[in-house]
Amino acid sequence: MVIEVHTQQKNYPVYLERGILSRVKELMPENGSYFIVSDDGVDEKWKECLQAQFPDAPMHIFKNGEASKNPEVWLEILADMLKNEVSRKDTVIALGGGVVTDMAGFAAASYMRGIRYISIPTTTLSMIDSSVGGKTGIDFEGRKNCIGAFWQPDMVIADPETLTTLPRRHFINGLAEAVKAGVILDEKLFELFEKDDWEAHLDEIICRSLIAKRDIVEQDEREGGIRKLLNFGHTFGHAYESQGNLNTWLHGECVAMGMMTVVENEDVKKRLSAVLKRMGLPESCNYDPKETAKLIRNDKKADHKRITIVQADEIGKGHLEEWTMEDVERKLML
Ligand SMILES: NC(=O)c1ccc[n+]([C@@H]2O[C@H](COP(=O)([O-])OP(=O)(O)OC[C@H]3O[C@@H](n4cnc5c(N)ncnc54)[C@H](O)[C@@H]3O)[C@@H](O)[C@H]2O)c1
Ligand SMILES: [Zn+2]
Repeated sequence: MVIEVHTQQKNYPVYLERGILSRVKELMPENGSYFIVSDDGVDEKWKECLQAQFPDAPMHIFKNGEASKNPEVWLEILADMLKNEVSRKDTVIALGGGVVTDMAGFAAASYMRGIRYISIPTTTLSMIDSSVGGKTGIDFEGRKNCIGAFWQPDMVIADPETLTTLPRRHFINGLAEAVKAGVILDEKLFELFEKDDWEAHLDEIICRSLIAKRDIVEQDEREGGIRKLLNFGHTFGHAYESQGNLNTWLHGECVAMGMMTVVENEDVKKRLSAVLKRMGLPESCNYDPKETAKLIRNDKKADHKRITIVQADEIGKGHLEEWTMEDVERKLML
């Protein structure tokens, strides 16, 4: 199926179909050269499948993991593009998880003031979350996504078949963002996770999540208002994420714990907790609440006194609330 995304920069299709990775070439414009970016964790068979369709395209592969999302690796990609004489008419293809799509997207955004970019997400997180929205970037001086640009892809190609090689922990981690989208925007999506055979509904879960995100992003590209809803679970989640090292808790796992911390309605909490348990996502951690509060106070989205929190009193209907730091501390039982 094809989901059309309309943005101020451009309109583009998201193709979502099993097996579509082997037909990428058919979707491409007739002329133009390609430069592929991936990492060494993405299963070889997906790289081979893509390379076979573009035998002349150079493939730049960097070491997998968040630690690679830095200026040095970004500059290495740009240097390799220059060495291979990539021109303004050419296209960068990203094949991988959110680290690859963020890095390759930013390389495309910055090379010669911006060239075409095609995203092929291969993790649940990158399919569900990063493939729509146009955010690209790298970490800098210990700050996540500190340098970056809004740069829309020309096309997104999502093949759920690629998820079959994804390690289980990463598979579940990315789906936390789909649970989040269900709680704040789409009750039917949430209900899919309440089914015993929820995994059999994976393609529908990805599709509904993409549509939910597309609908929000189209209304608010630069996160001035309604897009803030997507931050459900993220205020506390980011504070948990910063207290671990890169491997303690993954992003989606922190969002799961962050949703459980913030949600107040008993029915929502009960249903959310049951879903997280079934999926094997964590609901809480034993981090120091004082440190959590301090991190939230210093969060770039807080103005040091007040903070916008996303709340859901009913599944499928999130809303924004203004909290004081005292409200945050109360929640953490300080
Ligand atoms: N741009 C956005 O809107 C946006 C949104 C959310 C998250 N992000 C970013 O995404 C990043 C996290 O992305 P992620 O969770 O996809 O992590 P990731 O890119 O690090 O991928 C996780 C691991 O899975 C491996 N992998 C990828 N595809 C595979 C496959 N098909 N089979 C086997 N292994 C595979 C990778 O090599 C890596 O080791 C973070 O840097 C985050 O900031 C961006
Ligand atoms: Zn997130």
